[in-house]
Amino acid sequence: MKVLMINGSPRANGNTSILLNEMKKVFSSFDVEVEEIKIGALDIRGCISCDYCKSHPGECVFKDIVNETSKKFKEADGLVVASPVYYASPNGTVISFLDRLFHSKDYDVHYKVGAAFAIARRGGTTASFDVLNKYFTISGMPVASGDYWNNGFGLKQGEINEDLEGLRNARVVAKRMVFLMKSIKDGKENYKDLLEEEERVSTHFIK
Ligand SMILES: Cc1cc2nc3c(=O)[nH]c(=O)nc-3n(C[C@H](O)[C@H](O)[C@H](O)COP(=O)(O)O)c2cc1C
Repeated sequence: MKVLMINGSPRANGNTSILLNEMKKVFSSFDVEVEEIKIGALDIRGCISCDYCKSHPGECVFKDIVNETSKKFKEADGLVVASPVYYASPNGTVISFLDRLFHSKDYDVHYKVGAAFAIARRGGTTASFDVLNKYFTISGMPVASGDYWNNGFGLKQGEINEDLEGLRNARVVAKRMVFLMKSIKDGKENYKDLLEEEERVSTHFIK
């Protein structure tokens, strides 16, 4: 069982990293493998809508960390995305990364469990949380939720250590992710008929 973690902070040991470390402790206590990918300081450009990924399934035209992560996402049972809040949104690097990752993948991510976190000094966490969750909920991914909106507070590096509720919530979400991933594994064996999917229909508003 494996969880992939996307850390959107450019800070090596910033508040986002501290929150993710809290989750890692829970995952390792249940023997869940974790791989963290730190994207915050990388040069990741946005999607250019070129459709290269349609003629080269599973591959983005920009040969960078997105393609490398995509292979790992395919094998993972869960995905955690944690981003610092910049101007009341996930930071731009995270959005560029997720747009290209989710748009270029050629495999089914249904029933991989998602969890999102937004880390901020004070404002914009719930708006950012909404943005991140939408990558999961358009993709058939169940979302592991916590006991509050999944956020963490702090400005300077390390300040999140004082946000005891935020760190507790991160541990709660990690444990619920483990429960969901294990339950889904059992469910895939026991309820195969429920995995059959209706053929996809794609409409838009001019036809
Ligand atoms: C460009 C920029 C914009 C920011 N915008 C916000 C904001 O809108 N709301 C907020 O509460 N904090 C904002 N912050 C503060 C960060 O979210 C905060 O310092 C967070 O702890 C950084 O996480 P990190 O240590 O993991 O990098 C901003 C920081 C930067 C650099």
